[in-house]
Amino acid sequence: MTIWLLRYSIFLLILAICNGGSSDLNSRYIDGGASSSYLTVEASDQRNGSASSTSASLLSRSRHEIWKKDELNEILSFARRRENVEWLKSLRRKIHENPELAYEEIKTSRLIREELDRMGVDYRFPMAETGLRAWIGTGDPPFVAIRADMDALPIQEAVEWEHKSKVPGKMHACGHDAHVAMLIGAAKILKSREHLLKVVSVASFNGGDNLDLIPKSVVLGGTFRAFSNASFYQVRQRIEEVIVEQASVYRCTATVDFFENEHRFYPPTVNDERMLEHVQKVATELVGPENFRVVPPMMGAEDFSFYSEVVPAAFFYIGVRNETLGSIHTGHSPYFMIDEDVLPTGAAVHAAIAERYLNSG
Ligand SMILES: *[C@@H]1O[C@H](CO)[C@@H](O)[C@H](O)[C@H]1NC(C)=O
Ligand SMILES: *[C@@H]1O[C@H](CO)[C@@H](O)[C@H](O)[C@H]1NC(C)=O
Ligand SMILES: *[C@@H]1O[C@H](CO)[C@@H](O)[C@H](O)[C@H]1NC(C)=O
Repeated sequence: MTIWLLRYSIFLLILAICNGGSSDLNSRYIDGGASSSYLTVEASDQRNGSASSTSASLLSRSRHEIWKKDELNEILSFARRRENVEWLKSLRRKIHENPELAYEEIKTSRLIREELDRMGVDYRFPMAETGLRAWIGTGDPPFVAIRADMDALPIQEAVEWEHKSKVPGKMHACGHDAHVAMLIGAAKILKSREHLLKVVSVASFNGGDNLDLIPKSVVLGGTFRAFSNASFYQVRQRIEEVIVEQASVYRCTATVDFFENEHRFYPPTVNDERMLEHVQKVATELVGPENFRVVPPMMGAEDFSFYSEVVPAAFFYIGVRNETLGSIHTGHSPYFMIDEDVLPTGAAVHAAIAERYLNSG
């Protein structure tokens, strides 16, 4: 099954970002980029080998009932405490009012660090310019990672509301403001439950890039996308064949440059079956089966795929549609807005997925 795209964050281990560059990453960390929209969450883990997976899922089954009754409710009610809801909203609004483009997220990054300092969560900064990686737990494997992007887009906000962007021409039209707030919320939840974690967690916030928005100058340019790695490379080959051969038909010469050296291809984002199953199980318990959906594959470009190439990973969205509020526009729209009441739910989902993963193996 494939879910898809987009961005951001969660717990435990994670990493840093930016396509093309890869600052100080070791084999445990993956380098990816960022760009895109909506609300999404992702989780990945670092387990090796498939042999352990069977027993892990069996083990998690026996723990399951206990977890369901207690931990999940604790996490949700903690996230929904009035003071936490107000805090999440205010974080999101502060970030929304002060959007910063990719790799320039100075204030956003500082705000995140101040919050982490306040809750006593350790982190490493900088990574990928303005990014950081925080961890909760012992620092030893296994790991679960949650990621959030924090860059805004070069779009003028068209929503008239109290917390409208104060920066002309820049807007969090991708939901990264909410992603960051939910991730900080998840960090707070996990920190308060650190004694229950068997392992370590890290959260990181990444800068992004806008490759899919603003192509570099080219004579003829475009993008190509695919739902699988195999068809992606077949299409790549076919594009080159058709252009070169057609040109020669007219006695012209053509060269095709995919800029593979300058910019790595974004591979398709394909969820790991086992991680998807984990996310589905936890999310279903948390919000009810009627509120969980597997979305059809989409043709967006998502740098989360770089993580999923290295560790089992799952990419998911948190729905924000609310017609009453007018939250009906997709990401990258100047009218994009979210129903902020999803923030505690999103924070709880991230925390629960991470904690449950660590404690069920
Ligand atoms: C995974 O396996 C590789 C190769 O055996 C090893 O180097 C690495 O430390 C393992 N990672 C974890 C998290 O166990
Ligand atoms: C995708 O396909 C290319 C070309 O066949 C191959 O080099 C690469 O290793 C594949 N990547 C994955 C993640 O399977
Ligand atoms: C939409 O927002 C309104 C106002 O906050 C709220 O009362 C309502 O429950 C929300 N609808 C959904 C489907 O969440």
